[in-house]
Amino acid sequence: MAPAPYQPKGYPPIPEIGRVGVIGAGQMGSGIVQVAAVAGLEVRLLDIDPGAIERARAAIEARLTRQVAKGVMSETEKAEALARIRTAAGYADFADCDLVIEAAVENEEVKRKIFKDLVPHLAPAALLATNTSSISITRLAAVTDRPERFIGMHFMNPVPVMKLVELIRGIATEDDTYQAAKKFCEGLGKTTVTAEDFPAFIVNRILLPMINEACYTLYEGVGTVESIDTAMKLGANHPMGPLELADFIGLDTCLAIMQVLHDGLADTKYRPCPLLVKYVEAGWLGRKVKRGFYDYRGERPVPTR
Ligand code: CAA
Ligand code: NAD
Repeated sequence: MAPAPYQPKGYPPIPEIGRVGVIGAGQMGSGIVQVAAVAGLEVRLLDIDPGAIERARAAIEARLTRQVAKGVMSETEKAEALARIRTAAGYADFADCDLVIEAAVENEEVKRKIFKDLVPHLAPAALLATNTSSISITRLAAVTDRPERFIGMHFMNPVPVMKLVELIRGIATEDDTYQAAKKFCEGLGKTTVTAEDFPAFIVNRILLPMINEACYTLYEGVGTVESIDTAMKLGANHPMGPLELADFIGLDTCLAIMQVLHDGLADTKYRPCPLLVKYVEAGWLGRKVKRGFYDYRGERPVPTR
């Protein structure tokens, strides 16, 4: 029997995005919440770790206080932005969101489970986005009830400072979803680029092999942590050295991205450096746990090798 002809799904029109849900209150989730709240949107924030929500709130408040001190924002604007951020007790609190952005850990199983559990609670018109650094948008979209309304929305770290958002369409993403996502990001003051749905998209396809190579450079004894970072800062004008940047991103995230590149492109040039693997196995995940290629527990960062 011939396959049934494609029937476009009868989605309601995409609403004006006024209320946004964010899943994951780590460094990326907290940044996304901040820029959305400052842009005047109502935000709901969910994390499995209540401590992460508290830390996110404190970090956002501290960053906005700095904006007030610099005269960029008034006390009233700060208070209004903070009042727009609510903690979600569960997925049911996303029922009135026009867009939900997933920014939990870079682990496909975790993300799949989040999307599967989330979709029964969403309004039919709601859009879904993932901030994944590397994982297939098409595969994540396929576990939802709305792959046409699903998109990769890849913010850069630190979100309030970095201008770029990569937009990645899955195979099913419809153009009105892409246009609404683009408009949303531009409303946050960001510039978008479009990337095809291949492992790690554009920025991380280029950036992470460089970071991984810096790990090999350290592993093979070509340079020390300090000499590698100084070389790339002063020799290539990078704002942070690659090992400092790896710590800033999170070594777990760096390793997860390299694994996606290695598995997805099946090329040995993406082999994760064994030293990076060892740091992650030790739980030395970088700045967020105060230890990685540098030790951040003292007054100034001290190289760990
Ligand atoms: N969160 C929010 N804001 C931060 C921040 C953070 N973690 N760190 C710094 N900032 C802000 C500061 O508050 C300051 O803002 P104001 O100018 O409004 O006061 C501004 O950034 C500059 O900060 P500093 O003067 O303290 O520091 P700096 O000049 O050294 O700049 C930096 C800090 C912007 C992080 C700079 O070092 C930099 O650009 N580093 C490289 C960042 C980068 O490459 N990001 C991309 C990572 S890859 C990625 O995101 C994709 C992925 O999937 C892994
Ligand atoms: P993070 O480790 O700082 O935070 C992750 C948060 O997710 C934690 O608070 C954790 O408790 C929470 N979490 C884990 N499982 C959850 C679940 N089932 N439900 C709700 N929350 C859950 O990580 P991050 O750096 O903020 O990265 C988050 C996402 O953003 C990842 O997909 C990462 O690849 C991507 N990303 C990271 C960067 C970066 O530089 N760190 C840049 C762009 C994109």
